[in-house]
Amino acid sequence: MGSGTSGSRKKDVKLVRPVSVVVFGATGMIGGSVARTLSNSQKFKVTVVTRNPSNSLIRRLEKDGAEIRTADLNDPKSLVRVVHGADAMFLVTHYWEHLSKRSETQQGMNAVYAAIKCNIKHLVFYGAESCVCATGQRCGYMDAKAAIEEYIKGTGLPYTILRASFFYENFLSIFKPHNIGDNVFVIG
Ligand SMILES: NC(=O)c1ccc[n+]([C@@H]2O[C@H](COP(=O)([O-])OP(=O)(O)OC[C@H]3O[C@@H](n4cnc5c(N)ncnc54)[C@H](OP(=O)(O)O)[C@@H]3O)[C@@H](O)[C@H]2O)c1
Repeated sequence: MGSGTSGSRKKDVKLVRPVSVVVFGATGMIGGSVARTLSNSQKFKVTVVTRNPSNSLIRRLEKDGAEIRTADLNDPKSLVRVVHGADAMFLVTHYWEHLSKRSETQQGMNAVYAAIKCNIKHLVFYGAESCVCATGQRCGYMDAKAAIEEYIKGTGLPYTILRASFFYENFLSIFKPHNIGDNVFVIG
């Protein structure tokens, strides 16, 4: 777990208009939570990104005031289109659809490139420890995020990196305990 930031926060900044934030992964657990929280604050104008705008989860965010935009982390041009005009970006990348460190790293770099191209003023990235550096063992989804972190640090973009571990919410979804008989519950 951990976090890091590229600079200190100014205490005397006065907001004259809501900060516009583009949020990736908004139909997912992490990005969805960020999008809902920001949408419920007057301080932010939220744009949420999905590949599938007919998703019912995204429609709920629209009711909360978020603007829905369609883009794919594999498609750099679509990213520039949706990031254009935003002040800040919340970026969470994904591994579990393709199980490829290389693909996740590329997707992250595509989004960071869009952030640079669109003059994003602050990038918040949902990263991870480098498993290779910490233990010598490879772990695709963590090493991809660590590679994206390194890329971000070299861009000069103002950033904050968040690193969290396993969420208990996973026990309500992917690791929901199931009864294998005689009230014996198995996780996973
Ligand atoms: N869950 C945990 O305990 C945990 C802990 C630490 C780190 N993480 C990491 O956090 C990341 C997200 O986890 P999560 O649990 O929030 O995932 P999730 O609920 O499965 O959500 C995945 C999100 O990624 C978006 N996405 C996937 N591929 C995309 C693409 N090509 N272009 C645009 N958007 C794409 C999906 O959007 P659409 O389908 O709407 O396009 C969806 O909103 C993962 O990389 C995971 O490794 C998770």
